[in-house]
Amino acid sequence: MQQIKKKIQGEQQLLEQALARPLQQKDIDKLRVDLLGKKGIVTELMVQLKTLSVEEKKEVGPLLNQFKQFIEEKLETARISLVSTLATARAQKKQAFDVTAYAPKSLEGHLHPYTQFVEEVEDIFLSMGYEILDGPELETDEHNFTALNIPKDHPARDMYDTFWTDKPNILMRTHTSPVQVSAMKNKPLPLAGIAPGRVYRHEAVDASHDYMFMQCEGVFIDKNVSMAHLFATAQTFLKTLFKKDELDIRIRPGFFPFVEPGVEIDMRCPFCEGGCSVCKRSTWIEVFPGGMIHPNVLRFCGIDPEVYSGFAFGFGLTRLAMLKYNINDIRLLCNGRVKFLEQF
Ligand code: DAH
Repeated sequence: MQQIKKKIQGEQQLLEQALARPLQQKDIDKLRVDLLGKKGIVTELMVQLKTLSVEEKKEVGPLLNQFKQFIEEKLETARISLVSTLATARAQKKQAFDVTAYAPKSLEGHLHPYTQFVEEVEDIFLSMGYEILDGPELETDEHNFTALNIPKDHPARDMYDTFWTDKPNILMRTHTSPVQVSAMKNKPLPLAGIAPGRVYRHEAVDASHDYMFMQCEGVFIDKNVSMAHLFATAQTFLKTLFKKDELDIRIRPGFFPFVEPGVEIDMRCPFCEGGCSVCKRSTWIEVFPGGMIHPNVLRFCGIDPEVYSGFAFGFGLTRLAMLKYNINDIRLLCNGRVKFLEQF
């Protein structure tokens, strides 16, 4: 009899200890099975009770009943408290839900910096009344050289390291200037157009040279066009591009067979006042070659140089993009590296 009494006491203590710990529903269920189940402790004790004398039964019977009740009450209390804890946690979670907390990271695409830059340049010239001209990247010798006053065996051909194709007289254009030839031949006058596009030179690749880069040709033809128009155009374009109210330009003579006179237009460095690494401490940056279209070129395209005059220019789009975005290696622009492209 003493043994059963002790067992009841011991189990009661164990149950209290178990209930003092945080419980899940499955823990409560397990306690119920262990204590009240068919093979549980209470059943076991009931079996033992039967072996006792009537007197002993009278004493232990009620104890066992109390124990059973105790277990049921305790387990029910534990169940109710678990239900309410879960409800509070759920409510709190709802209340504290932060819609801005987790935004899954996704890579968003955008236009390539080259495309962005070309569009910016085009917008500036469109706003000045220019149209956008297009021309093929595979050109004839005639358009790329001869029409531009660079006949066969002219030393100026050496300035352009040309990729020839295996078709006679067909080459990868070495500059965008041939587009002015087709425009002059085919478009009505007056004419104002730019032709941004890729050009190809057989060059060793390094940080500032590539065998493919971009230029932008410009052509303007009307009656009484002068160098003053060219300079004003260059200045307006550069000021708008570099977002400067004031931007000096400087003009030096330059030789290009298709213009006479030919000039190199430098702009005052937009990044510094007294000299920096971009302008190599000179405060000037060479950006805009151009000149008055050579009478031979006008004539070749069927335009009478006695009636019409015009200017042309052909700046390095790649070079200007690198300057504007502070890119120090031309190879970055075409290698598709996401870390680089993400910055634009
Ligand atoms: N086509 C020349 C080059 O690639 C650039 C150029 C210079 C174009 C002067 C012009 C110009 O139209 O007038 O070096």
